[in-house]
Amino acid sequence: MITPLRSSNFRRSNQTMRLIVTTFVGVVFGFFLGVSFPTISLSKVNLPSSLFPALDLTYLEDKYSGLSTQAFLNVWSSLKGHKYAAKFNNTKIWAPKNPRGTETLPPGIITPESDLYLRRLWGLPYEDLIVKPRYLVTFTVGYEQKDNIDAAAKKLSENFTILLFHYDGRTSEWDEFEWSKRAIHVSVLKQTKWWYAKRFLHPDIIAPYDYIFVWDEDLGVENFDFEKYIKLVKKHNLEISQPGLAPNSGLTWAMTRMRNDTEVHKETEERPGWCSDPHLPPCAAFVEIMAPVFSRDAWRCVWHMIQNDLVHGWGLDFALRKCVAPAHEKIGVVDAQWVVHQTVPSLGNQGMAENGKAPWEGVRLRCRNEWAIFQDRLSAADKAYHKSLS
Ligand SMILES: *[C@@H]1O[C@H](CO)[C@@H](O)[C@H](O)[C@H]1NC(C)=O
Ligand SMILES: *[C@@H]1O[C@H](CO)[C@@H](O)[C@H](O)[C@H]1NC(C)=O
Ligand SMILES: *[C@@H]1O[C@H](CO)[C@@H](O)[C@H](O)[C@H]1NC(C)=O
Repeated sequence: MITPLRSSNFRRSNQTMRLIVTTFVGVVFGFFLGVSFPTISLSKVNLPSSLFPALDLTYLEDKYSGLSTQAFLNVWSSLKGHKYAAKFNNTKIWAPKNPRGTETLPPGIITPESDLYLRRLWGLPYEDLIVKPRYLVTFTVGYEQKDNIDAAAKKLSENFTILLFHYDGRTSEWDEFEWSKRAIHVSVLKQTKWWYAKRFLHPDIIAPYDYIFVWDEDLGVENFDFEKYIKLVKKHNLEISQPGLAPNSGLTWAMTRMRNDTEVHKETEERPGWCSDPHLPPCAAFVEIMAPVFSRDAWRCVWHMIQNDLVHGWGLDFALRKCVAPAHEKIGVVDAQWVVHQTVPSLGNQGMAENGKAPWEGVRLRCRNEWAIFQDRLSAADKAYHKSLS
């Protein structure tokens, strides 16, 4: 009923206008038809069986019980697709360039990437998003650290998507914060940041974000501005970065200590003998795992390096350099935007007390073991690759 109108009178008008008019006409028409046949049951109507091949009408009737018969027919005829479909019904699709397993689909319908954008239940899909956030900030949190996270979240504009990974199962408590309502909450008991990252931050799922913050919960952001940080990261071409750590942060490495005199630094002096090469970790090409920020491309690489079973991520920091080149130029610490690492014992305390050892000791031991295992796997993989070449 809509097609003739559209083709003769409205061809030249713009799409929005067309949509409004056709929708309106459709609604009015459907309404009158609906009013004239309000209670006709689909299964009792003598429909041409070719229209509903192999369809259980009772099922459909149930599913669309809110629709009048005519409105239903309208929906159905649009579901049946346009007239071209029938023309090609014998031609099998085999599009080998499609993603694995989707070769039978017409490439135009394939949507290989996703996002974390929230949408409305009503209105037109293309009007859902006023702003498309370009940055993703994730925190792995327990409710105890809510003040820290609240302080950070309050600094995040509409340009950021907030994603919280809850390791303590407490999610509804966060409702007290206004920003929490537009945040995404993933709750799985007692898992680590890298466990969540591997499972919920697949590069294809978070494809639209330019930068991804994979942060711990114990970072003080009083002197930190997210937008300014990103500006500096762009200015200095950092693919992998972290904010400088204030001197009172319980520092492990010289590299991540903030400096007074620079916006960004990419190398440092460590204690004598710690660096075999000034361009290699821990003297350069190195940030820690507590507050890294990745570009989209760097994350695609790093995600693939995360091991499913090595949940603490120890050793990953030393290997990040494999994902960008030249690493000593593309990995760096932003001094002008810095944070305080509070080293709050949180998830690290939630191990099991075993063999007379405190829960945190077991966790720490596993961290160390994982580091060794990761190193072994990485060098074995390196070796295997080089062997395969020769
Ligand atoms: C489409 O399928 C129908 C029924 O299977 C068949 O009669 C018709 O010839 C087919 N059309 C083409 C173009 O192959
Ligand atoms: C969000 O991003 C846009 C585009 O980069 C920028 O113009 C705007 O200032 C940002 N919003 C805030 C609140 O910083
Ligand atoms: C920053 O500079 C001040 C003096 O300009 C100095 O006293 C202080 O130690 C410096 N801090 C760091 C972390 O280097």
